Amino acid sequence: MPDLSQETPYADGKILKQVTDGVGIITFNNPDKRNAMSLEMWEGFGEALTSLRDDEAVRVVILRGAGGKAFVSGADISQFEKVRHNAAASEEYGKRSAAQRALLADFPKPTIACIQGFCLGGGMQVAMLADIRIAAHDSQFGIPAAKLGIAYGYDGLKHLVSLVGPSWARLLMYTGMRIDSSEALRIGLVERVIPDDQLWGETMAIALTISQNAPLAIKAAKITIAEVLKDESARDMGAIKAIGTACMDSADFREGRQAFMEKRKPQFRGK
Ligand code: COA
Repeated sequence: MPDLSQETPYADGKILKQVTDGVGIITFNNPDKRNAMSLEMWEGFGEALTSLRDDEAVRVVILRGAGGKAFVSGADISQFEKVRHNAAASEEYGKRSAAQRALLADFPKPTIACIQGFCLGGGMQVAMLADIRIAAHDSQFGIPAAKLGIAYGYDGLKHLVSLVGPSWARLLMYTGMRIDSSEALRIGLVERVIPDDQLWGETMAIALTISQNAPLAIKAAKITIAEVLKDESARDMGAIKAIGTACMDSADFREGRQAFMEKRKPQFRGK
């Protein structure tokens, strides 16, 4: 587990940020409410993401929940009466939280959701926007929008459908049911399920592997996979070509092949 004393607080400490060995870590830290997200937390999350995006030392970001019981249990329902009570208020609320999620959707470095416990509603949106989801055995996933009378929205459902397909998306949305990690793994909602006590170590091991690989090659993969997922008419083949050229002309590519020939570990600089 990260050393909490080294963390930078946002949103009155309900969002924490840390950087260690090229790995940025954002912790949702409102365990008394199972890390339910208030608007202030969404905004703090956006600030933490921006800071990690602009920090050259950071090569990969892990998102996690504090307290061991939840990743994020969704939006903070106690704020709804005041800030999300009808369509107009909900639109304003949605814009403010969506602006922060857009930072995650457009994040230029790899992102990993490290999920232990409940991952519900808006927590699923965060997890689905990450590049990779690693979950502990005892986790639970669901989108209880139909139990609250909430329309989940285009962005969240787009990612759900692309991960699990339309039929599972319908079953989850119509019933509001929760599924466990093994079912989430089987339907493609998460990539790996790990015993609870090994989750953090395994997630860090993946992040450290990524942080030691060539940043431009990873960026090329991230950009190209994002373009593959777009409709052909919206696809930016120029962006794929540009990152491909930057990669193949990079000092890191020279370093990668030299290190292989010299049988040593490469030292990549992202240039
Ligand atoms: N918003 C606001 N408060 C929440 C919350 C949320 N999304 N999720 C949990 N909490 C609060 C509970 O109200 C409770 O507060 P209290 O101690 O003041 O009573 C506290 O967190 C602990 O929750 P509790 O229900 O006692 O814990 P649990 O472990 O039995 O169950 C959940 C945890 C997450 C399954 C359950 O709290 C729940 O279903 N939360 C709502 C999830 C949801 O609908 N999310 C979608 C929102 S759009």
